[in-house]
Amino acid sequence: MPFGKVKKQYLAIAMLIFVLLFFFNSKPAFQCLSPEIQVSSYLPTIYAITPTYTRLAQKADLTRLSQTLMHVKNFHWIIVEDSEKKTDLVANFLKESGLNYTHLNVKTQASKHSSVLDINICLFKTYKINSTWYCASGVEQRNLALKWLRDHLKKLHDKRGVIYFMDDDNTYALKVFDEMRKINKVGTWPVGIVGGMRVEMPLVTDGKITGFNAVWKPFRPFPIDMAGFAINSTLLLEQPDAKFSRKVQSGYQESEILKYFTKKEDLEPLADNCTKVYVWHTRTQKPSIITPKKWQTPVFDSHIEV
Ligand SMILES: *[C@@H]1O[C@H](CO)[C@@H](O)[C@H](O)[C@H]1NC(C)=O
Ligand SMILES: *[C@@H]1O[C@H](CO)[C@@H](O)[C@H](O)[C@H]1NC(C)=O
Ligand SMILES: *[C@@H]1O[C@H](CO)[C@@H](O)[C@H](O)[C@H]1NC(C)=O
Repeated sequence: MPFGKVKKQYLAIAMLIFVLLFFFNSKPAFQCLSPEIQVSSYLPTIYAITPTYTRLAQKADLTRLSQTLMHVKNFHWIIVEDSEKKTDLVANFLKESGLNYTHLNVKTQASKHSSVLDINICLFKTYKINSTWYCASGVEQRNLALKWLRDHLKKLHDKRGVIYFMDDDNTYALKVFDEMRKINKVGTWPVGIVGGMRVEMPLVTDGKITGFNAVWKPFRPFPIDMAGFAINSTLLLEQPDAKFSRKVQSGYQESEILKYFTKKEDLEPLADNCTKVYVWHTRTQKPSIITPKKWQTPVFDSHIEV
């Protein structure tokens, strides 16, 4: 057989494989053209609410989180700064992120404490001015986001979706977003490394929640972490008064908001009947920086955004 002929046969086979691969690979593109398939692939929008505040590791934390969120379809990020004005850092960061977002801000009226003996008392942030500790729990920020979301949903024809409260330094597996889109009313799942435990989780028997394993304040009405539940957004308009409160003690914010939407026994267990961990309550350690004047030859870096 002449060499040239063999080569042509190979070429033909190669082209056939290429064409076949092309068709298989572009299947989703063809699916989009079919209205029936489009309906069945309906994805509820996730409205994630994240309070954030200025600190050295803020941009690092937001970068890590946003690069998770880039992989989440049909996602709307409501990010609320604890500040009197929106900062350039967050505004520019969001603009460049490529995500769907709403940027809000409200300054916390911080509550005063003589010490930070209870490390859980300030779930959002702590700071010290003249030997007085101040603490913020994200109440004002989350409430402003809920108000924005109510106004937004009122304008939408399709109000279906999921509300999720995200911290800016937690770790989220993409699977947690798939799970929360399954909720009817309020769904819950385990949270790793929280409340002094490896994992804090609902206890499930025959597909129903029968208890919780929490050891930190187990008598809370809903002994679960903020990262461990999501709420159907249609319920937000049915409960116009639902909001967080500054009056409750630490660890009760989750119970405060959930009481408007569900009962403990009606929570829907997700993540394979609460046997999988898809979110971890990680916290970024506060970095310690040596002040430039202590260096022999100071190199000024204030012109660089970190
Ligand atoms: C952004 O939001 C729009 C409308 O709310 C939605 O259709 C779209 O899928 C979203 N995009 C991403 C990347 O989540
Ligand atoms: C939320 O509730 C609405 C109305 O009952 C329902 O159509 C929808 O499937 C529920 N779930 C999600 C994720 O929107
Ligand atoms: C959860 O448990 C119930 C009852 O045992 C079972 O019917 C259901 O399939 C389980 N769900 C998942 C996602 O494993």
